Amino acid sequence: MYFPNIFQEGKIGTCLLKNRLIMSLYPTKYSVDSRINERMLEFCKERASGGVAMIVLDCPCLDYPKAYKGPNELRFDAPDFSEGIKALLNTIHGRGAKAFMQLNYPKERIFDHEVPGAKQKGNVWVAPLVKIMTSEDANNILAIMSKGAKRARELGYDGIEIQASYGDFISQLLSPISNKRTDEYGGNLENRARFLIHLLKAVKQEAGNDYPVMVKLVCDEFVEGGLTLNETTVIAQLIEQSGCDAILASGGNKATKRMTIPSHYLPPGTLVHLARAIKKAVHIPVIAVGKINTPELAEKVINEKDADFVAMARALIADPYLPIKAKAGQLEDICSCAYDLEDCANKGVKGLGRSCIVNPFSGQEYRFKITPVSQKKKVVIVGGGPAGIQASIIASQRGHEVILYEKEESLGGQLLLASKAPFKEGMNEALRYLKHSIGKTSTKVILGKAVSLEEILSQKPDAVILATGSISCLPNIPGINHSFVYDVKTVYERSSIELGTDIVILGGGDIGCETADLLSQDSRNITVVELCDEPLKRMKDIPREELLNRLKEKGVAIITSCKVLSIEENKVITEDRNGFKKDVKADSVIFAVGSIPVNSLFNSLLSLVEEIYLVGDANEPGNLGAALRSATEIGLKI
Ligand SMILES: Cc1cc2nc3c(=O)[nH]c(=O)nc-3n(C[C@H](O)[C@H](O)[C@H](O)COP(=O)(O)O)c2cc1C
Ligand code: SF4
Repeated sequence: MYFPNIFQEGKIGTCLLKNRLIMSLYPTKYSVDSRINERMLEFCKERASGGVAMIVLDCPCLDYPKAYKGPNELRFDAPDFSEGIKALLNTIHGRGAKAFMQLNYPKERIFDHEVPGAKQKGNVWVAPLVKIMTSEDANNILAIMSKGAKRARELGYDGIEIQASYGDFISQLLSPISNKRTDEYGGNLENRARFLIHLLKAVKQEAGNDYPVMVKLVCDEFVEGGLTLNETTVIAQLIEQSGCDAILASGGNKATKRMTIPSHYLPPGTLVHLARAIKKAVHIPVIAVGKINTPELAEKVINEKDADFVAMARALIADPYLPIKAKAGQLEDICSCAYDLEDCANKGVKGLGRSCIVNPFSGQEYRFKITPVSQKKKVVIVGGGPAGIQASIIASQRGHEVILYEKEESLGGQLLLASKAPFKEGMNEALRYLKHSIGKTSTKVILGKAVSLEEILSQKPDAVILATGSISCLPNIPGINHSFVYDVKTVYERSSIELGTDIVILGGGDIGCETADLLSQDSRNITVVELCDEPLKRMKDIPREELLNRLKEKGVAIITSCKVLSIEENKVITEDRNGFKKDVKADSVIFAVGSIPVNSLFNSLLSLVEEIYLVGDANEPGNLGAALRSATEIGLKI
């Protein structure tokens, strides 16, 4: 058997789990009216089908309307809301997985008038509960939360996860930084942990002593003066004594979210040491979390007794079937998370919500279905970058005859370049997975062939998909044609270019800033010039903070709200918003100001073939996620 430690049964309280893998809470935010919809249902169904033992689901609003966050938040206070939840739980249970409900309470109170301790936000006043909560409030919230746990049990959730991490309400009470209270809920450790302990007892009393309750505990805030293992191992013992059935060892607070949700800038298993320390302090099961990115690492964590269970969120967004594939030893079939947080975090993708760059089906399961074709077609696909490969995979999986042309000697397109930036090895893995997947189809791949119109037509295709990518935009700046000015792609393609000491990068988007990171060395002065008022505007909070910190540490200068007037011998002339001009020394200049599609074949083919489509950058330049989604969409359509 592969991974015998992972694939053994385990128990959290009275809840028997079929293996040691748990899906950590990932709020999809797919609800639009506080009800479960098909999109959420299909998302969870896929994860439950993939073999995970338990899924932690989002906390519905416990205190409507007083603490209601809006239509993205589920409700279960009336039958027409709870029916959907029951259906979701049935779906998960039907696939052999268990479902816990996270139990949480908003950390802020919103008032329509000024109150002491509140800050004005628009036309409302917002006050942190950790500051303004009275003893009466505390008792009310304890009652509301424990009733919420009881309701969870009635609806069929298999247990509760109390949220005591993530900088949310209970973790703020635990933390000596955010909790400056002088009453029974503040001051020493026992006082700061009092609410959590009362809650555990109240939940057990309301929902039943046998109802499983785990705590997602902040074990280290990674902030000076904040919680560390010194205190949290004691909290762990206190909550164990109060009836807690398991502890999920998380870390970080709102200011150190980079540790809670470790990005590609941090190593795998970033938080495992927390689980290890907690496990030494308690007798109940401990769950490790935080970029546990492979079955091998999960197995090691359990085998070495660092934890009893392993929780994963993003690895299962990227590949819901990771557990089943691991169990069968089909490791090459696993589509690995790149931990870039590009499409799954914050608001996700514009117009689409939370999604995934390597898994175009994530959040689209309800509409993307791979169905066999009724009429087999001959499909010619031009361009072997990610979009071309993905379109080939889907079209051939559905039963079409597919021929893929790539002008270079190997597949990969821009992924080959993207993986060269620091910490972007995930792009290599994404390409490995795509190449592996196309290899399992009947697609005929023709490499090293810049296909002509005649060649395409000679195949007599029923459909043509152009995945011909994009080229860099050439900024319209005097001096752009100097020999020391380079397209950013050239810099990645030709490592032998002599760039000199002073390098100016035009464009402070992700490519510009990652290139600055790649090129920065002690002996170099790098300046990034950005037209907008801030760099990395489209990058999500966590990787953005990481990259900006790296650039700062490496002494990269970033000039914002600034345009380049001209490029001259050894310098770039810039102008800020106030019309102030400045020369920046430049031995070389690199431009990274966006891309434009390459799709000239489209018009030529339009009247000559029955069906013609553009996918990926050839349609609209975007990230890997956008390329794979557009290719999937067309692959499913033809
Ligand atoms: C986009 C995103 C949003 C998250 N939101 C929450 C949340 O609201 N509450 C919570 O307890 N955990 C949240 N998590 C944290 C996950 O449950 C998990 O602890 C974390 O992502 C580390 O696991 P992973 O590296 O396997 O993704 C979120 C994770 C992601 C990626
Ligand atoms: S978007 Fe990136 S970080 Fe998020 S789940 Fe997908 S691959 Fe992982």
